[in-house]
Amino acid sequence: MTAMRIAIIGGSGVYEQSFLEDDKKIKVETRFGPVAIKQGTYRDRTVFFMARHGGGHTVPPHLINYRANIAALKKLKVDAVIATAAVGSLRRELTPESRVIIDQFIDFTKQRPLTFYEGEEGFVVHTDFSEPYCPEIRSVILRAGRDLGQTMIDGGCYICTEGPRFETPAEIKMFKSWGVDVVGMTNIPEATLAREAGLCYATIALPTNYAAGVSSEPLTQDEVLAAMDKDKPELERLIAASIARLKTGTSCRCREAGNKYPKEQTS
Ligand code: HPA
Repeated sequence: MTAMRIAIIGGSGVYEQSFLEDDKKIKVETRFGPVAIKQGTYRDRTVFFMARHGGGHTVPPHLINYRANIAALKKLKVDAVIATAAVGSLRRELTPESRVIIDQFIDFTKQRPLTFYEGEEGFVVHTDFSEPYCPEIRSVILRAGRDLGQTMIDGGCYICTEGPRFETPAEIKMFKSWGVDVVGMTNIPEATLAREAGLCYATIALPTNYAAGVSSEPLTQDEVLAAMDKDKPELERLIAASIARLKTGTSCRCREAGNKYPKEQTS
């Protein structure tokens, strides 16, 4: 049996995973450009790590090459993706210690390349998003976190804004009236491309601050990064424990969603 292949996409403040063994740097060429990745192992699984904003946090949310990132993971024949995302919390009870295993999103982005299917294939692809994140990975992360005694929140609605600016209190008030729980700038189109490519994908949303107007304090990027830094060891424990529990042969429908993804781009 071939080892399960799992990818971690690290968001703000997550630039490595210290539990990776025998890790080396690799570069994957895709039709959207090259992607720098670390490849290692953990508990008999092949694990890839990608820093979404680049190693030194140099790429802003709206300029991340999301298509290259997901195309690279597809080429590496990844089975499952665990992503982290720093978020602003719209609800007082979603405190900085909590891990929101989001189950819905609203796409409020404006100008990012958003699909693998631009019509060049000679057909149109409308992908189902009735269940936006892989239910099996979500449940593995939730169970792993609960066993570690972490504050796990089962479900939440993430809104993805274009950034790179933070939101206004008026925007946050409107999002709250729409049922949004957390706000970030990077989950879309990452989650939607992963589904188009047929990858199982889930996100651990990490509240680093209360969103604009929920708190009266001004927001800073330093505050976001400081909160992520403080949480790093516990977050790594959660990711490692989740990876150890993931199994192939899942019964979710994520893989079928990728049956139109061009075969020649998968090796
Ligand atoms: N807004 C958008 N993105 C974020 C925030 C926020 O308040 N905090 C961390 N990422």
